[in-house]
Amino acid sequence: MEIKLRPYQTGDTQAILDIINYNILNSTALYDYNIRSYEQQKAILEEKINKGFPVIVAECDGKVAGFGMYSEFRFREAYKFTVEHSVYVDNDYHGMGIGKILLAELIQIAKKQNLHTMIAVIDAENQSSIHFHEKFGFETVGIIKESGYKFDRWLHSVFMQLILE
Ligand SMILES: CC(C)(COP(=O)(O)OP(=O)(O)OC[C@H]1O[C@@H](n2cnc3c(N)ncnc32)[C@H](O)[C@@H]1OP(=O)(O)O)[C@@H](O)C(=O)NCCC(=O)NCCS
Repeated sequence: MEIKLRPYQTGDTQAILDIINYNILNSTALYDYNIRSYEQQKAILEEKINKGFPVIVAECDGKVAGFGMYSEFRFREAYKFTVEHSVYVDNDYHGMGIGKILLAELIQIAKKQNLHTMIAVIDAENQSSIHFHEKFGFETVGIIKESGYKFDRWLHSVFMQLILE
């Protein structure tokens, strides 16, 4: 299986939307209740790119198998060296090392962009993502209890941080 990383192109939007909407409907990885439209997702991705942030796609045998991106953590100026990222891999491709390749590349890009720290905000039930981030040296720096409510239960947001060298 050949995995190729490349920048996002408009033609990737539907595949990314399918991964996002699957996670909205079936997981607590995203705190949305309702699936997004193609236009909404395209606008979200284009906004990041227009601000100079990366959106990268992992292609496996010609298919979009996952993607990763980051953008502002918060909007006040002093946060400008801090970004919040996310990585999503299509369910059919979990556990094949694709997430690892995507996150490693995001970290490299962040270093090149002279950023100082990366933040992942992960639902506490999403233990696979917490373990995944720990492998990269991310540390849990805080848990915001009962900050989300989905599927008739309270959700806790785990903040994980990596300081870039
Ligand atoms: C989290 C996610 C991105 C990981 O991607 P992946 O391609 O499945 O992970 P990889 O195969 O690259 O695994 C990378 C490392 O994470 C670990 N890991 C991945 N899934 C894991 C799991 N379910 N439990 C424990 N560790 C796990 C692996 O052990 C691996 O480490 P190793 O190489 O030392 O063995 C993927 O599962 C996913 O898209 N989940 C749904 C969306 C999501 O939660 N995204 C994160 C939101 S912040």
